[in-house]
Amino acid sequence: MINYQLQRRIVNETNITEVVSEYVTLTKKGNSMFGLCPFHNDNNPSMSVSDKVKMYNCFSCGAKGNVINFVSRIENITLDQAAIKLAKRIGIQIDERKNAQALKEERLIKVMEDANQFYKFYLKNSDEGVKAREYLNNRGITDEIIDEFEIGLSSSSKDYLYLALSKNNHSSLDAINLGLIKEDENGDYYDTFRSRIMFPIKNRYGKVVGFSGRIYTESNQAKYINSIENDIFHKSEILYNYHNAMQPIRQNDSVYLFEGFMDVIAAKKAGIHNSVATMGTALTTEHVNMLLGLTKNIVLCFDGDNAGVKAMKRSCFMLSKYNNLPNGIVLPDGLDPDEYLKKYGTEKLINYLETNKKNVYYWLYELAYKKMIPSDLVSMETFKNEVFEFLRTTNVDSIHSFFFKKLSNDLDVSVDKLMDEFNKLKPKQVYQSDNNEYPYNYNQDIATNKDILPVPDKRTTKLKTLKVTKKIQIAYDSIIKHSIFSKDRFAKFFEQSTIDSVLRYPGKELVNQYLILVEIQNFYAKNDYLGIENLYIILENSKELLDFAIEIVQNRFINVTLQENFDECLNAIIEFYKKQDQINAYNEAILSTSSNKFYEKSDEYIKLKEESIKIVRKENNI
Ligand code: UTP
Ligand code: MN
Repeated sequence: MINYQLQRRIVNETNITEVVSEYVTLTKKGNSMFGLCPFHNDNNPSMSVSDKVKMYNCFSCGAKGNVINFVSRIENITLDQAAIKLAKRIGIQIDERKNAQALKEERLIKVMEDANQFYKFYLKNSDEGVKAREYLNNRGITDEIIDEFEIGLSSSSKDYLYLALSKNNHSSLDAINLGLIKEDENGDYYDTFRSRIMFPIKNRYGKVVGFSGRIYTESNQAKYINSIENDIFHKSEILYNYHNAMQPIRQNDSVYLFEGFMDVIAAKKAGIHNSVATMGTALTTEHVNMLLGLTKNIVLCFDGDNAGVKAMKRSCFMLSKYNNLPNGIVLPDGLDPDEYLKKYGTEKLINYLETNKKNVYYWLYELAYKKMIPSDLVSMETFKNEVFEFLRTTNVDSIHSFFFKKLSNDLDVSVDKLMDEFNKLKPKQVYQSDNNEYPYNYNQDIATNKDILPVPDKRTTKLKTLKVTKKIQIAYDSIIKHSIFSKDRFAKFFEQSTIDSVLRYPGKELVNQYLILVEIQNFYAKNDYLGIENLYIILENSKELLDFAIEIVQNRFINVTLQENFDECLNAIIEFYKKQDQINAYNEAILSTSSNKFYEKSDEYIKLKEESIKIVRKENNI
């Protein structure tokens, strides 16, 4: 990780307009330079670049950041790699000595890349390869597609891959770690993948990190076997074809998410480039982050069978946590896109995909409805429960009311009655969020920081607490804005209080403010000036937090030139916590004694209780 000081130097000393114009034509408009945004399908120049504020900003798709962020995004390289590249421009030679982990990853990727070379070679240059290519061609996978997806073949012999890797001086331990070879009881090595068509799986940077191998002859073995999880292959972070699809996804501002990677290949044959697939796993938060970083328009294209419906529901729930409402497509007769293509041809497939994009809840309803036998009470009840189940994956009212009406029609039961029943179910959520103590749309982006959030004290949740008022929220926002531009003020806020009093977790209403302040604290522990450009760096991992912080910076009512404004806000927060402490003290007293039945009736207890209620009422205006 390149340190903040150096990042700051790179950002400050690099002319961002110069760098951006190497990728995008910029023209001057007023005081700024404008160009077509490379991160979405832009027709009118909507990206501004300013060397004065050292930032780029697209008014249309919202992409923004400093020069390191720009290069990392457009080249699809890590922030560190982008920083190293930019450092060279301004004549700083960065010591590229990597840590042991990075070196190991690089070495393992090299093993995978070499294995890929071998498999590709073997498909093209062996007798077995003739048969395998016949199979592929029969499935409509042309030589062109074979090259494009770098499809290969593992041999039926015991150890051809092992021998090839040894010849390239790779250690057998690495190959074992990667799941490419195994050791038998005699200590002999043998290849894991045998007689399988090999599909390399690449990470977001286009490096081969795993394989999926498919049988192509009669066999009673599993249809596909995948690489095992290892240091470089994590299925939960891999979307098949993501690297190649990034640009088309941005350009089309939409992505098809398929169940199988054969479907991605089928889509490609039909000229659809903006598609990816999970590697036989359910959609994870990492997947969602990868997709939402490119587009908000996700189209789930899953099979209409039980497994597909289940995956669709799970994905809906996952996406609803990000306030995202996906579309869905279910192909007829239980066909997957690959089978549909084979049966009806490319044109029909494109046509179907384009014209049947519908809200995913529409599909879930249709599929459940199809199974219902009208007038059979048991089946009607099952149908109703199924609809309730998927409705519980969303909080959007309009979806609820739309489907209650539909359900009321189809079951001939009143909407009120259905709603009643549904609401009774609500507390026992089927799809429980892992973070149910946080707001429903809690962004998993900040999952990295999740562990710093204190666990709510179960005992006190039932007791009186002060409502976080708008005033307190604004006070927190102000402290953030002041702190961004002044280490001294942050230090004052921090020292006045220490971590236990003011910079303590102020409750879920202020979770964003809290997390930003913690990042600021970390930054100031080693640096002297934060400023907007570093804000992008410290909040790089969380788009939600970054947007939140930018909005605060842009809030013109928070005037950082006024020391009074800062003092006022700090005092408001201190006051707030003083009152909260008072109430907590009462609460604690009550808690520690309330098991005593006699005490509960005593004057002292009643007095304590009344006083605490009075404060709460007064503060919350009730
Ligand atoms: P499918 O059974 O739908 O395969 O599994 P498919 O994509 O239609 O493949 P073809 O057309 O038969 O060749 C969907 C996904 O589930 C995983 C794979 O990732 C596959 O793409 N899977 C399936 C396995 O991991 N192992 C298996 O044995 C089967
Ligand atoms: Mn298939």
